[in-house]
Amino acid sequence: MGIVIKGTGMYVPERVLTNADLEKMVETSDEWITTRTGIKERHIADEATSTSMLACNAARKALEMAGVSPDELDLITVATVTPDKLFPNTAALVQRALGARACPCFDLEAACSGLLYSLEVVHSILKANKNYRKALVIGAEKLSSIVDWTDRTTCVLFGDGAAALVLERDDSAEHDFYVAGKLAADGNYGDILHLPAGGSAMPASHESVDGRLHFIKMGGQETFKLAVTGMTNASKEVLADAGVAPDQIAWVIPHQANRRIISAVAQRLDVPEERVYVNIFRYGNTSSASIGICLDELNRAGKLKRGDYVLLTAFGGGLTWGAQLIRW
Ligand code: UT7
Repeated sequence: MGIVIKGTGMYVPERVLTNADLEKMVETSDEWITTRTGIKERHIADEATSTSMLACNAARKALEMAGVSPDELDLITVATVTPDKLFPNTAALVQRALGARACPCFDLEAACSGLLYSLEVVHSILKANKNYRKALVIGAEKLSSIVDWTDRTTCVLFGDGAAALVLERDDSAEHDFYVAGKLAADGNYGDILHLPAGGSAMPASHESVDGRLHFIKMGGQETFKLAVTGMTNASKEVLADAGVAPDQIAWVIPHQANRRIISAVAQRLDVPEERVYVNIFRYGNTSSASIGICLDELNRAGKLKRGDYVLLTAFGGGLTWGAQLIRW
């Protein structure tokens, strides 16, 4: 018996915002954004599109690939920091839109590490309780709704998008997709990457809106350093746990936050760049969607072979971080 990834899907909104477009909005340049981050463009949803809609589009593709219909699902979860509303949870909105049956639905919030956290949690549920056979795991974000479009230090970084995976308990599977995992968090660094207002600590008020406190705030340099050490250390721990050497890994899929962070992690792990998947130049940082988008692109391009080891690693607000070794 093993839990397998039966299907993957991704979706990004049509509208593309290029670095040239951003040059007209804030004091920045294509040259600065490209050299500091690797980002060339990102996709931005229109006003009428919510996170659950992005999630549904990715989910339908994953379900189609898996050959699973929505009414067969036993569990739906959405990792997001941009839920449609504080409640009901976005997974329940996805359930309704997909026409799925009354299965358990919950959101998981671990910022950019959200999809890794979800995979760990949902894998454990499928393994522990035989009443769960088929689960839909989504990472989806409309980050454009919480980006301060007047703040050049953050607005150039983020994009909207969604990714979905269908996990299934398979009684005849040769191996489980999950090999080893390491999750971590350190709340002491909560204030270096956060959204101050809109929760119970600071409900929306005229002051919070005037103070632009409903937008992402980030200490970029500190986050950068912690991201490199966090992802490197978690990845090394996971590989040691699994007894797998870096040269046995077919692909490393790091969270796409910054091209320089990705290169620094790859270097420290001693994995050559050609086995590190990078698509940040097209999407920017899509938070909990980024690793799933990479996985779906690799999958649909036929670049994942049965038995391949793939190392996922993420880092984000919380601070949260982690790594997971999966086997295709
Ligand atoms: O996904 C969650 C995790 N997030 C991350 O991992 C993000 C981590 N941090 C980063 O990726 C980088 O720190 C940034 C891309 C955010 C910033 O790059 P940096 O090389 O750390 O730049 P910096 O913050 O040190 O800023 C350097 C200069 C500053 O000017 P001065 O003070 O040297 O005159 C900034 O004001 O660049 C300036 N700057 C910009 N210039 C043009 C900051 N943003 C911009 C901009 N365009 N968009």
